[in-house]
Amino acid sequence: MKYTELGLINTNELFADALNRHYAVPAFNIYNMETLDAVINAARIANSPVIIAVSESALKYMTSDMLIGMIRGAKITPDDKIALHLDHGRNFDICRHAIEIGFSSVMIDASQLSLNDNIATTKQVVEFAHKHNISVEAELGTLSGIEDEHTFGTISTYTNPDDVEKFVSATNIDSLAIAIGTSHGAYKRKHDDEELQFNILADIAIRIPKLPLVLHGASNIPQKLISTINEFGGKISGARGIDENQLRRATKMNICKINVDSDLRLAFTAAVRKSLHDTPENFNPRDFLSLARTAMTQTCIDEIKFIMGSDNKTNTSAE
Ligand code: G3H
Ligand code: 13P
Ligand code: ZN
Repeated sequence: MKYTELGLINTNELFADALNRHYAVPAFNIYNMETLDAVINAARIANSPVIIAVSESALKYMTSDMLIGMIRGAKITPDDKIALHLDHGRNFDICRHAIEIGFSSVMIDASQLSLNDNIATTKQVVEFAHKHNISVEAELGTLSGIEDEHTFGTISTYTNPDDVEKFVSATNIDSLAIAIGTSHGAYKRKHDDEELQFNILADIAIRIPKLPLVLHGASNIPQKLISTINEFGGKISGARGIDENQLRRATKMNICKINVDSDLRLAFTAAVRKSLHDTPENFNPRDFLSLARTAMTQTCIDEIKFIMGSDNKTNTSAE
């Protein structure tokens, strides 16, 4: 299946405008009908371009056929400015699979390998992907944090600015994920005053000024959602996200894509916990799943408006 048949576009067009107008396109992770619907609804309400991100484990959870069926059902058109992106593809085979089933963009994450092996693996994916007009994101440096099924580096290594020019010219990638202090999951910072490494970001942006940069592990972890979860039976302590002022500042420094998964997980969980608590007699999942969907839509809209700055940007010819 070619992604254009699904009304999708690749990320190059999205990033060109984001780089030009200094905002970030949100990449929200989805794993079922509710998350997909929430992300698409929010993007349409806010007139924001959006990247639907699907991890390898989410793809396994939904199956490729279910995912593509749901994407078709969403009746996306190129005017929506939506890309379907493989998040953290581990090797060439998973990237090729994603491309063959209808993704418009892939990430090859070979950041755990040596620089030369990262280059070789990334290059192989780029050569295949570009033949199909698919955009490719790669990563330099490693983020800390552990996700459900795959382990990311538990110790983070910031991206070395000295590596970026060589990496970009050797691979011909379309965007680069960098490590400047963000991390996956809900426990990103021990203290409120921890800052992202803006000096590293500035150094990278000067060296590769035309290349869109990507921030993974960039959830804001709204404390209101944590409080709701804990109020209604959850037990999450010490969760802290990336400060929204710092995220906004990053969008002015060539960060064109900001990845968010944990915030939607929290919005989903908070809504379900509250609903089950408030109406203990109810056992109709459609009731609490629609509340979860509405809560995730609102979280997406808030972040589009107050963090990404991507609202009212679907018309790329607008001022
Ligand atoms: O960065 C990765 C995402 O948060 C996906 O996590 O593999 O649990 O779907 P997942
Ligand atoms: P968060 O865990 O901060 O939401 O990061 C998501 C992510 O980077 C997906 O690739
Ligand atoms: Zn990530």
